[in-house]
Amino acid sequence: MSITILGIESSCDDTSAAVIRDGVLLSNVIASQAVHESYGGVVPELASRAHQQNIVPVVSEAIKRSGLSKEDITAIAFTRGPGLMGSLLVGNSFAKGFALSQSIPLIDVNHLQAHVLAHFIKDTPEQDTAPKFPFLCLLVSGGNSQIIKVEAYNKMEVIGQTIDDAAGEAFDKCAKVMGLGYPGGPIIDKLAKEGDAKKFLFNKPHIPELNYSFSGLKTSFLYLLRDELAKDPDFIEKNKNDLAASLQSTIVDILMDKLRKAVKQTGIKEVAVAGGVSANSAVRESFISHAQRFGWKVYLPKFSYTTDNAAMVAITGYYKYIDKEFCDIDAPSFSRVEL
Ligand code: KG4
Repeated sequence: MSITILGIESSCDDTSAAVIRDGVLLSNVIASQAVHESYGGVVPELASRAHQQNIVPVVSEAIKRSGLSKEDITAIAFTRGPGLMGSLLVGNSFAKGFALSQSIPLIDVNHLQAHVLAHFIKDTPEQDTAPKFPFLCLLVSGGNSQIIKVEAYNKMEVIGQTIDDAAGEAFDKCAKVMGLGYPGGPIIDKLAKEGDAKKFLFNKPHIPELNYSFSGLKTSFLYLLRDELAKDPDFIEKNKNDLAASLQSTIVDILMDKLRKAVKQTGIKEVAVAGGVSANSAVRESFISHAQRFGWKVYLPKFSYTTDNAAMVAITGYYKYIDKEFCDIDAPSFSRVEL
């Protein structure tokens, strides 16, 4: 009998629903929320309101595109946390209502675990491109920068993480002070293509073990802008490509320095990357050059699975279903939760 999972993601500002049958993706629908753009960041109350409006049409569309009907769904999986509480509650409540009405199991999913397991989503039954256990995963998003040792679908250990800002946050905040739009990561990525990455030098952190820090970089970026703008008010406009390229290359260097250390410490050379920042072209290039230089086997996710999406929730739900790991109907959402 086939196992068909409906996944629901609503942790931040994307409402998404996906259907996965036996590990193969049948549909993945994402409604992004443009309402936040003019605020330069996600406004939690506006996000929950938009989720409320989007959730029913997004789920209906995902089921329609899968070619199945709601009676074919074996279980429903939803993001339980971490994320914005009001946003999480929309997906949580919807999933519970759906599970009760269809008399099917309810599966809670950790958003971070889902980012890692995005590597196991298949487009066809024959596809065999997933990393082999054990592997390391660099999880880099707007809220997290972690190095995770993955021993099995349900066995993951965070061996390093940021002690302050996340890598995505560094992109977004520096882009904001440059007067660029939100989210800043893709804009910096684009500007950097025409820039000189060696033009500006920023401080790199000296943090012990495998942990990260990005707040010092943000501060040194701010100080540079403050000093240069005092001399020339058009400094940003004249230098935006070089600023973007220098910032991006510093972030990538910081990320990869610790990842090399993690590979050395664990002896694991299967290395994946996940989360929104894994869409970054310099991160991707650096992974490929590390594979060539150090003999790593690297795994880059498809662009559509880098940012928040329900396909990764559904695949996580699929493996939890196999392990019969269901959750109670009174399960609360968690704004903060570890792996
Ligand atoms: O995983 P994600 O969609 O959301 C969570 O934080 O859960 O990640 C969003 C982050 C934002 O900080 C955004 O600026 C960053 O991913 N991002 C990028 C790129 N695309 C998205 N950062 C750098 N380069 C990109 N191309």
